[in-house]
Amino acid sequence: MNRKRKYNSRKKSNKALTITLLLTSLIMTAIVFWIAMNDWDVNRTLRQVGIGETQAPPMEEQETEDAGEPEETEPETEPETPEEEIPPVEEKPIEEEPPAEVKEPETKEPEKNVTPVKPAPKKEEKPKVTAKPPTSPNKSGYIEGQQLPDKPTVINGILIANKKYPLPRTYAPGESTEARAAFDEMAAEAKLSGINLTAFSTYRSYDYQVTLYERYVNKDGVEAADRYSARPGYSEHQTGLAFDIGEVNYEKYWASFKFGETEAGKWVAANAYRYGFILRYPVGKEDITGYRHESWHFRYVGKEIAEEIFKRNITLEEYLGLK
Ligand code: DAL
Ligand code: ZN
Repeated sequence: MNRKRKYNSRKKSNKALTITLLLTSLIMTAIVFWIAMNDWDVNRTLRQVGIGETQAPPMEEQETEDAGEPEETEPETEPETPEEEIPPVEEKPIEEEPPAEVKEPETKEPEKNVTPVKPAPKKEEKPKVTAKPPTSPNKSGYIEGQQLPDKPTVINGILIANKKYPLPRTYAPGESTEARAAFDEMAAEAKLSGINLTAFSTYRSYDYQVTLYERYVNKDGVEAADRYSARPGYSEHQTGLAFDIGEVNYEKYWASFKFGETEAGKWVAANAYRYGFILRYPVGKEDITGYRHESWHFRYVGKEIAEEIFKRNITLEEYLGLK
């Protein structure tokens, strides 16, 4: 009985051991298979049952956290176009108005780098000449027997008085207030350079010119006098626009050629145009103006015309197309 009981007990024990080994093998096989499914990563396998290490953060986040103060980062939005790629307005070439000459290419190519000057007045813009054109001047430039006109001659808005275009005997405008204001302005600026200008003769009446001219004829004769003194009715001084300029306290140079050699004379010659005055009787232009050079005699024509005449180095007659 006891042997049988022992046999049965041993048999049960073997059976339990076999089952245990079988189950253990199965479990082990399953575990090995599971680990194999996780690419042999034991940690990953353990994490799946909640007993592995916590997942490590990505490397980038680690660095940011470790950096302390965050570094400046690129803006997320598209960067604006760099300023240097936008040409500044100042750099844009400014297209200059082409000179009037460019409009007539068939006659002449426009010259570059030449200071554009006021174009010659169009023929249709010429105001009517109120005096008959003179003919056959004598040796002095006068038309013998010419009658004085009823009206002064105005060409292109400029009052002209010379040996061919006289003034009415009764023309007596007095000194031009505009010319006087321009002279005063010029004198004020000259004073800043230590030059004290004065206009020692401006408007002269017809009758006063009679006296002057007779005196010069008596002194030097008609032919000589005609070269430096206007006959009555022909003097620009009768327009009120002519200013004989000299320096205060230097009367010895008034109406003298030497005035042009003084500092004052040089200053006026170089600057008068900026105030609307032109040197009316320049050197070497006697055959055009009718008079010898007078370094002191200036004529007011306005700033724009004076500047053109000065820069073109021409006379009023040439400017008006009278020569
Ligand atoms: N001396 C200038 C020409 C005049 O007499 O008007
Ligand atoms: Zn004069």
